[in-house]
Amino acid sequence: MSVKLHDTVLVMDFGGQYSHLIARRIRECEVYSELLPWNTEINQIRAKKPKAMVLSGGPASVNDQNAPRCHADIFNLGIPVLGICYGLQLMVDTFGGKIDRPPAKEYGRTKVHFDDRTDLFKGLGTESICWMSHADSAKDLPEGFEATAHSKYSRYAALKGKKRLLFGVQFHPEVVHTERGMEIIRNFLFEIAKCRPTWKMTPFAEETISEIRRTVGRERVLCAVSGGVDSTTTAALVSRAVGDQLMCIFVNHGLLRKGEPEQVRDILRRMKLKTIYVDASERFIQRLKGISDPEEKRRIIGEEFAKVFTEVAREHGKYEWLAQGTLYPDVIESAQTGSPASRIKTHHNVAGLPAWIEFRLIEPLRSLYKDEVRRVAATLGVPDAITARHPFPGPGLAVRILGEVTEEKLTICREASDIVEEELRAAGTYDRVWQAFAMVGDDLAVGVLGDERRLGHVVTVRIVESIDGMTADWARLSDDLLSRISDRITNEVGNVTWVAYAVSSKPPSTIEPC
Ligand code: XMP
Repeated sequence: MSVKLHDTVLVMDFGGQYSHLIARRIRECEVYSELLPWNTEINQIRAKKPKAMVLSGGPASVNDQNAPRCHADIFNLGIPVLGICYGLQLMVDTFGGKIDRPPAKEYGRTKVHFDDRTDLFKGLGTESICWMSHADSAKDLPEGFEATAHSKYSRYAALKGKKRLLFGVQFHPEVVHTERGMEIIRNFLFEIAKCRPTWKMTPFAEETISEIRRTVGRERVLCAVSGGVDSTTTAALVSRAVGDQLMCIFVNHGLLRKGEPEQVRDILRRMKLKTIYVDASERFIQRLKGISDPEEKRRIIGEEFAKVFTEVAREHGKYEWLAQGTLYPDVIESAQTGSPASRIKTHHNVAGLPAWIEFRLIEPLRSLYKDEVRRVAATLGVPDAITARHPFPGPGLAVRILGEVTEEKLTICREASDIVEEELRAAGTYDRVWQAFAMVGDDLAVGVLGDERRLGHVVTVRIVESIDGMTADWARLSDDLLSRISDRITNEVGNVTWVAYAVSSKPPSTIEPC
């Protein structure tokens, strides 16, 4: 929504671990950016009218037989193109240069000397530390290209077309370890591509409200709210756009956190959002019986949600539209085939809705990252009680319970998570971390309760720091805090004998255990 009004920079994703970071950095410069699979059709690219293109890094070698190659016409669109790492190599290879794999690899912080400081490296001085992560490098430049930077092992640490707006950097300007990385990205956007920095959240909210109004006309909208920042912000936008034509629906699927149904209803009342509350816990839990595959759980939950929405819509009159708070990372992570981001998890609201659903969808946040949504929420006056809450997945505790969702595991997960949150709030740490919860599976371990040896559940506590949920690191917390959490869980939650702390980051793990 509304993105058509903004200059767009497209990032072609060749599967590099930093690809989405490139799009984020561009947006931090207030220029709209989208990540597209490397094999996107040229017509689709043209239709988006990009102001510039970036080719990301990636694990392949251009010398591999099946190396991913974007459409060569990307270089003929008459707009600036910046190739990063693999992107540079692809550019060199496409124009007839040579890429090889020298014995010395460059990995990590590397001093790069900027030899041409007229455009991409303008204002940067003669050298700076950049982040390298490559095995292949350019051996011979194609005709019409020249080197613009070098390092100890790379003669062509950066290059450009002599007559065309083609640029390449062998290092990664998008990662924080490249000290002047943001300035390089800014130079590309503003000095070279002449982008306008208009991607700001206040105009986004205004433009989106107008667009919803135009799209919906006089029809009615049902908005699925969970009390999370995404769905509540969606409801706030739709409410501003069409007022009384909006009805919110809050479905309790029985997989919510402790006290959540009451808290959410209270906040929605205070925000004056008309809401239908449906307690559908029994039917969700019933349908999840015997299901242990996480993707199957998500599918069932998505389907059941859709059934409840449809029933409610029929019962309460005609609703043509269903609004939901789908975010950009949900879209990327639920990528269908053809994208280099193989499907990681089917976020229930993206690919989880069944084909029979009769509603037309409004997803006003589909192009935003979480931190951008929080900024939109602030401009709309969404209460802190919502914006400051940790993200909570749509399928709720079902994805924090490994294996089948049973009453016992549900109680353990809910009670233990409540303790984790309470202790973090008491320690003043809640706002510092991205998510904090407990998970439980079927593993049992021996404990001593009173004088008795007993088998009980293993609860794993997961507390992570993140900017946008795309990558995450486990939170380094004090031993005292972790020990308090562990003691309280084993003392207060029935049938738990062990507490573990998850010390894996994303990647390679994900934030939720399933
Ligand atoms: P992962 O586990 O993929 O999570 O690292 C990234 C972020 O997405 C949330 N998440 C979900 N949200 N439906 C949602 O609405 C889902 O199926 C789902 N799975 C994960 C997760 O809580 C984290 O913030």
